[in-house]
Amino acid sequence: MNIVITGASKGLGRAIAEKFGEDKQGHGIFLCARNKEQLRAFALELQGRFPRTNVQYYACDVSKPAEVQEFANWLLQQNIRIDVLVNNAGQFIPGSVHSEPAGALQQMIETNLYSAYNLTRALLPAMMQAAQGHIFNMCSIASLQAYANGGAYSISKFALAGFSKNLREEMKPHNIKVTAVYPGAAYTDSWSGSGVDPKRIMEAADVAALIYAASFLSPQACVEDIILRPQLGDL
Ligand SMILES: NC(=O)c1ccc[n+]([C@@H]2O[C@H](COP(=O)([O-])OP(=O)(O)OC[C@H]3O[C@@H](n4cnc5c(N)ncnc54)[C@H](OP(=O)(O)O)[C@@H]3O)[C@@H](O)[C@H]2O)c1
Repeated sequence: MNIVITGASKGLGRAIAEKFGEDKQGHGIFLCARNKEQLRAFALELQGRFPRTNVQYYACDVSKPAEVQEFANWLLQQNIRIDVLVNNAGQFIPGSVHSEPAGALQQMIETNLYSAYNLTRALLPAMMQAAQGHIFNMCSIASLQAYANGGAYSISKFALAGFSKNLREEMKPHNIKVTAVYPGAAYTDSWSGSGVDPKRIMEAADVAALIYAASFLSPQACVEDIILRPQLGDL
């Protein structure tokens, strides 16, 4: 399989890449993130740990439509069939509507929604022609539940869930699966320095394990939603 993962140098994206990398079958794994050095270091590490895997990387900012198009062109030039697209890149800045800085919503919508929307649109013609593929959108519990410190982040994640639901309906006749992933808190770089005990919340590998499992069901089955929370519930 060929798997494209955005926001793949750290956190959940990294864990998803590792999970597919572990597979004895060996897959093509295509990674993106903004910081080229960190991305390159992770790609080399992954390739070294899992020699059967073909790891490729491309540094870009998926909040910028022109960079998304360049990334999509690069992917399409690889002449591969895209089996799995994980729209994972996102930015988490807590805040409240009444007090967050001006521009917070625009920034979060660009990073958490337009990124997935634009990359999906750029890759869909090829995927629809192949009549095959699986798109995962990394939503959040904040896509389902409003909370006082949610603000622009939660609004953008509600929008991403709306994108995912619409895409699911559209893609049914094209044999392309769409899954919305709604994780609660999982320990990643976003949480380092927060003072939260890593054992209180989930591991990035928990989210990766479910995405991996959902991508190997029979062609006639689609996991529409993956909702997972820490055992003790939300923070
Ligand atoms: N961790 C959680 O508790 C949790 C819960 C629910 C949902 N989520 C969602 O899961 C996703 C991943 O979160 P995470 O906690 O794994 O984050 P993270 O540890 O901060 O990692 C984010 C990754 O995305 C990349 N990235 C960020 N902005 C980008 C951009 N504009 N273009 C390209 N790459 C970008 C980062 O690399 P660069 O900085 O080099 O670009 C990094 O590789 C996000 O969508 C987040 O909202 C996380």
